[in-house]
Amino acid sequence: MFDLDGETAIVTGAAQGFGRAIAERLGEAGSNIVIADIQVEKAENTAEELREEDVAVEVVDCDVTDLASAQALIDATVERFGGVEILVNNAGGATSDRFTDLDFDAWFDGLALNLSGPFNCSKAVAPEMRQHGDGRIVNISSMAGRNVTVHGDASYTAAKWGLIGLSKHTARDLGPDVRVNALCPGGGPNGPLGRGVKGEDVANGVLFLVSDLADYVNATVLEVDGGGHVNARPDYLDKPPEEWPDFLQDQ
Ligand SMILES: NC(=O)c1ccc[n+]([C@@H]2O[C@H](COP(=O)([O-])OP(=O)(O)OC[C@H]3O[C@@H](n4cnc5c(N)ncnc54)[C@H](O)[C@@H]3O)[C@@H](O)[C@H]2O)c1
Repeated sequence: MFDLDGETAIVTGAAQGFGRAIAERLGEAGSNIVIADIQVEKAENTAEELREEDVAVEVVDCDVTDLASAQALIDATVERFGGVEILVNNAGGATSDRFTDLDFDAWFDGLALNLSGPFNCSKAVAPEMRQHGDGRIVNISSMAGRNVTVHGDASYTAAKWGLIGLSKHTARDLGPDVRVNALCPGGGPNGPLGRGVKGEDVANGVLFLVSDLADYVNATVLEVDGGGHVNARPDYLDKPPEEWPDFLQDQ
C-alpha cells in the first residue's frame, strides 16, 4: 500500500525541516527523490544521508518563485529519472511582521514563495503528469490556512488560505490524471495531544496522500495538527460546576 517503488517524487524545500522528513519517508517507501531547494549545499548533505539508505536522489538548485527555474526542475527530473509521479510543494515560510509593519515588498515576497511557488511547480509538472496519468500533488499549507494563527504574517496567512483554493482548483482541472490535496501542519502543546507537530507527522500524512490508500482522496485538506485547533479539554471540566472559573459562573 505504501510501496512507491520505481516512482519519482520532487520535494521542494527539502534541504531541511519538514521537507527533509518528507523526502526521507517517501525515499523509505521506495521512491526516487529530487530535492529542489535554494540551499544547495545543505540539500547535498541531506541527499548524501538518503543515498546511504540506498535512495536514488538528485539535488536541483531551484527557486520556486521563478517559473523558468520550476520548469528547469521538471526537465532535470525527467532527464534523470524518466518521469515524475509525485510533487510535494513544501517550500514556504513566514516573517513575523504584524500587518501594520508588513510593507508591500514583504507582502509580495510572501505570496511569491507560499502561493506562486506551488503554482509555478504545479504548472510546470502538469503536462508531464497528464501525459502519464496517476500524478499526485500535495501542497503543504498550514493551520494558518484554516484559521488566523498567532504565527506568520498576513501574506503567509493569505497565501496558505489561497493554497487550499489552488489545490481544489487544480484538482478539478487536472483530474482524472492528477490528484491534488493540501496538508495543513500545525498545533502545539495546548492541543489535546499535548505536543507540537514533528516532521515525521507531516511526512506520514504526505505518504498517505500519495499512496494507493488515498486513491479516492482528492481536492481535500488533511489537518495534521494533533487536533490543536480545538484546544485541549480544560481541567475545570473535570470539577463540579461550582468550582468552574468565575467568568463561567456568571453565565
Ligand atoms: N514548521 C512549522 O511548524 C510549520 C507549520 C505549518 C506549516 N508549515 C509549512 O511547512 C513547510 C516547511 O516548513 P519548515 O518549517 O520545514 O520550513 P524551513 O524554513 O525549515 O524549510 C524551508 C525550506 O524551503 C527552502 N526554500 C525557501 N525558499 C525557497 C525557494 N524560493 N525555492 C526553493 N526552496 C526554498 C529553504 O531553503 C528550506 O530548505 C512550509 O511551507 C511551511 O509554511 C510549517
